[in-house]
Amino acid sequence: MTSIQSRPLDNIGAEVFGFDINEPLTEATKTELKALWYEHGMLLFRNQDVDPTKQIAFSRIFGPLELHPLEVKRSGDHPELFELENGGPADKFQTAYYGGEPVVGRLDWHMDLHYTARPNHGALLRAVVVAPEAGETGFGDLAKAYDALDPETKACIAKVEVAYRFVVQRRQMRFVDLEGYEPGPDSPQKPSDIGFPDFPDAAYPAVVQHPVTGQNILEIVEQFLNRVVEPQKAGLTPDEADALLRRLVDHTRRPEFHYFHTWQRGDMILWDNWRVMHCTRGTAPGVKRLIHRTTIEGDATLGRTLPASQSA
Ligand SMILES: [Fe+2]
Repeated sequence: MTSIQSRPLDNIGAEVFGFDINEPLTEATKTELKALWYEHGMLLFRNQDVDPTKQIAFSRIFGPLELHPLEVKRSGDHPELFELENGGPADKFQTAYYGGEPVVGRLDWHMDLHYTARPNHGALLRAVVVAPEAGETGFGDLAKAYDALDPETKACIAKVEVAYRFVVQRRQMRFVDLEGYEPGPDSPQKPSDIGFPDFPDAAYPAVVQHPVTGQNILEIVEQFLNRVVEPQKAGLTPDEADALLRRLVDHTRRPEFHYFHTWQRGDMILWDNWRVMHCTRGTAPGVKRLIHRTTIEGDATLGRTLPASQSA
């Protein structure tokens, strides 16, 4: 008998109780944890005494782990671990201005590796060093967002395909909120500035069926969202297509689909990256924050890579 219990969080996800990462895990408990992950899209575990080795072993319950596609991003001792750090030497590249205030590491709503057409299946974040204030991570349920659409919109987007374009300069992102935004003096301009290659555009149906649960997922995340592919096929002019994407992005921003987590030491969060988008609010310059991330491999291709002729 397992003693695991769960309590839904605001709008999305659940907090898991009665779980200790240092207790041996039975197959029944692993099955139960996996079922909870799919049911709630995001799980929060508090007060866990974790180190990188334990985090990696725990993450493997949910599937094979993925190394970050870029060697520059991997942690030396544990290549399965990805360190997200604020308050370190990378700050100057991650600093931008919002309403005149400098912010480090703010990221718009996104899904990890979405720009590759093969997003990872999920990820686990662990708070190693907690920022004294700010630094929240937001999660948004795109299954719930789809369900909340009106029937006309659901019918309209059934034939729509959307393209995503990987850029590193936020001003080139067409659907993020740029009001009051100024890049920092060291903000990267092109992918090679931070050791990234150029990626061809990726395209997804506006509604993707979740590979495991079969749920309809509204595949609209504002970061990198670029355009509707061949809008005339869906009976739309390019202007109408842009207006539709703006309306869908506004819809995904509705707070009833969101949960924002304020980190405490020992917190661990696991989310389903095929269903849940996430964002970070960032921190003030000089504030220390360290998160360790492990990544569950994406073993399904949800989108397609567009040929270079359509990526220009
Ligand atoms: Fe991310």
